Amino acid sequence: MIDTEIFQERVVKVPTADHHYTLLVAPDGNYLGVDQEGFTATFPYANDRVMWDETDAGTFRHTIADIEIVKKSPDANVCQLTLEGNTLDCFGQTISESASYNVSHGPERLPSEYLKFFRENGWVCLTSILSPDLVEALEKVACTDRFAHLKIDRSSNPFSQSPAIARTTAEPVSLWLIRQYMQIDDVRVAHTPGLAILDRDDGKRIVQGWHSDYPYHWGVPARGQVPTPSGETVLGVQRNVCVSPFTKVGGATAFKLGSHALDQGPPKEWGVASDHYQEGYRETHGLPYMGPEADIIDAPGGSIILYDSRTWHRAGVNRTDQKRAALLMAITPMYVMPKNDTSHSYKAFLASDVYKELNDRERIEVERLMVHQFIGPGGQYAIGADRELTATLHARQQDKVSY
Ligand SMILES: [Fe+2]
Repeated sequence: MIDTEIFQERVVKVPTADHHYTLLVAPDGNYLGVDQEGFTATFPYANDRVMWDETDAGTFRHTIADIEIVKKSPDANVCQLTLEGNTLDCFGQTISESASYNVSHGPERLPSEYLKFFRENGWVCLTSILSPDLVEALEKVACTDRFAHLKIDRSSNPFSQSPAIARTTAEPVSLWLIRQYMQIDDVRVAHTPGLAILDRDDGKRIVQGWHSDYPYHWGVPARGQVPTPSGETVLGVQRNVCVSPFTKVGGATAFKLGSHALDQGPPKEWGVASDHYQEGYRETHGLPYMGPEADIIDAPGGSIILYDSRTWHRAGVNRTDQKRAALLMAITPMYVMPKNDTSHSYKAFLASDVYKELNDRERIEVERLMVHQFIGPGGQYAIGADRELTATLHARQQDKVSY
C-alpha cells in the first residue's frame, strides 16, 4: 500500500431527497393501496400499489390508479379517510365501520424504479426512507448523533431495548425489493439485526479487510464459504441502514460496486478480511485497498443501502470524532442456514415491552424474518440452539482431548 492510494475511493453522492411518497397505514399496519381491479384495499407489503402522492390541497392521489383520497381532518396525521365521500374501513373498503389511518413517510422513488436499478447494478440506496422520528429513535438506542452524550446500554440486546430496531427490520419497501431480487418470498435474517458503531480510527486497530457477505463469505476467515458462483440464484442481500449519515471521512462502508456480477471473491492484493483480522497485519501491510477503484456511498442518515451479498466491500475508516452508527442485516433465503441463533433474541423481544408497541404487520414480519423453521415430526418446528445436545457434543470433544 502506498500513501497516495489511501482514501482515494470514488464517492457516489446520494443527494438529499426533496420529495417522498406517502404511505397510508391501517390500524393493523397494512398499507392502503389499489388492487388490480382498481378497488382500494390494504396490503401487508409495499410496492407501487400502496404509493400515494400528497397534493397541494392535502389530498392523496394514487400513483397508478385514478383515485383520490381525502382526509377527514385536514391537519391530523392520524385520521379517517374518504373515497368519493365514503369513509374507509380498516380494510380500505367502505363496507364496515370506519377506521383511522396513519399518514406516514414513504420512499423517495417508486419501489419499481428502485427494483430496476437494483437488478441492473446489484445495489440500491433508498434515500432517507426512514421517517425522521424513526431515525431519531435509532440514534437514541445507538447513543450516537443527537444522543452521543448518552452511554449505550449493554445489559440487554438493543433489539429488545427500543421498538425502533424491529420497526426498521420490518421496513416494507426494502423487504419487498429484497424478496423480488432474491426471487423468493420466504426470506430470513441470518443473525439478529445489530448496531455497528464505528468510532475514530487510532491508526493501529485491526480494520476489516475486503470480503463478500454471508453466506458467500468470500475472503472471510469462516468455515463454509459458497464454493462456486451462484449465478442467478441470489443467496444473500445485505441491508445496511445508515443511522448516522454515511460519509467518506466518517467511516461509510467501502464497496467495489458491481463486483457481485463477477460472482467471485475480492483479490488477495486488495487486503482481504482473512488477512486483515490478524494481529500485526496492519502494522506490516498497511490498510486494505483504498484506491480509486473502490466506491463510497455517501448517503443521509435514515437511508437504507441494499446490496447483493457477493459485492466486495469492507468497513470504512472513521477519521472524525463523531461515532457512526449503522444497523446491519444479512438477509438470506429460507433454504440457507442462519449464520447465528436468532431464537434467543426473538424470545426476549416477545417478552419485552417493545413487542407491545409494534403493530400486527410489524410483528408478523419480524416473526417471519427471525424464526427459522424446519420440518419435524408432525409439522414445522422453530429452530434454536439445543443446549442439551450441545453439552453432549462438548463432553465428547473433552473426551477426545483426554485420549
Ligand atoms: Fe460485510
